Amino acid sequence: AARPRVLSGIQPTADSFTLGNYLGAVRNWVAMQDDYDAFYMVVDLHAITVEQDPATLRRRTRVAAAQLLAAGLDPQRCALFVQSHVPEHAQLGWVMSCLTGFGEASRMTQFKDKSAKQGSGAASVGLFTYPILQVADILLYQANYVPVGEDQRQHLELSRDLAQRFNGRYGKTFTVPEPYIVKDTAKIMDLQDPGAKMSKSAESPAGLIELLADPKVNAKKIRSAVTDTEREIRFDEVSKPGVSNLLRIYAALGERSIADLEQEYVGKGYGDLKKDLAELVTETFTPFKERTEQFLADEGKLDAILAEGGEKARAVAAKTLAEVYERIGF
Ligand code: ADP
Ligand code: NA
Repeated sequence: AARPRVLSGIQPTADSFTLGNYLGAVRNWVAMQDDYDAFYMVVDLHAITVEQDPATLRRRTRVAAAQLLAAGLDPQRCALFVQSHVPEHAQLGWVMSCLTGFGEASRMTQFKDKSAKQGSGAASVGLFTYPILQVADILLYQANYVPVGEDQRQHLELSRDLAQRFNGRYGKTFTVPEPYIVKDTAKIMDLQDPGAKMSKSAESPAGLIELLADPKVNAKKIRSAVTDTEREIRFDEVSKPGVSNLLRIYAALGERSIADLEQEYVGKGYGDLKKDLAELVTETFTPFKERTEQFLADEGKLDAILAEGGEKARAVAAKTLAEVYERIGF
């Protein structure tokens, strides 16, 4: 039987992925590439929903791809590509936007959060409609599953609604995608503000573990992570969000259970936990940073990998778009 298809993407909006990107997305992508027919992309069309400097965007797109390869994505075992290399995303995006109600799009809460950050009236129409482009991203590949974090659930719902709407109006064309929930892919929080998710587009880098940063800088950030005035190392996201975040990171990265860690740190202090976690992060990401730099050193080879991935993706995307155009009367 054919393997179920998965589709996921990451934005080239920073010079490094964060530990949140790694534990919440990238690591799972690597784990899924054999059991699924996997399509992974660097979503540069989504990145331009906020203004980008062209040279920076081009560099960050390569840096994102290099990190995905360094994390273990194998272009022989998945399709790894750049969204703008496949023009069908924008083409199907238009069709999908004509199928979406204005009120329906207005209910997307991410726009409210993200546009608030830009100041009144400053947000682009692209930022408003980006969930619809995301729908096109998913439906183009007839994806069965989409690994999504909690923050993206509403957009997956929109994908399901629009797939069903199109199928109902024009005949069965699209696979209706399901969320793929990874067990312990809870959100990784900002080290300085454990009420907010760790995001590569955060205003301040103080609370971010950036995978390509100097390991010493990351170790220092972990040692200065916000905790609380108690002494006990215990998982309690409500009253101890900082310590709980450190435990969660440690458990995910060290493949240990949180209960096991709580046990190990009975009678020890926050300083011990931070020191050990800093070491684990250094051990894990020093070789990752080296591998990324190796992929970046050969730009020709990196671009060739992405061109090949784009061809693989386009073969599927063009087929879906042709069927869509036929059905709507083009
Ligand atoms: P960012 O918010 O860092 O710019 P993206 O929007 O590019 O990240 O999302 C890339 C992937 O990383 C998505 O699957 C998203 O759910 C995941 N992700 C981002 N931040 C976190 C986090 N703090 N914890 C867990 N997963 C995250
Ligand atoms: Na994001």
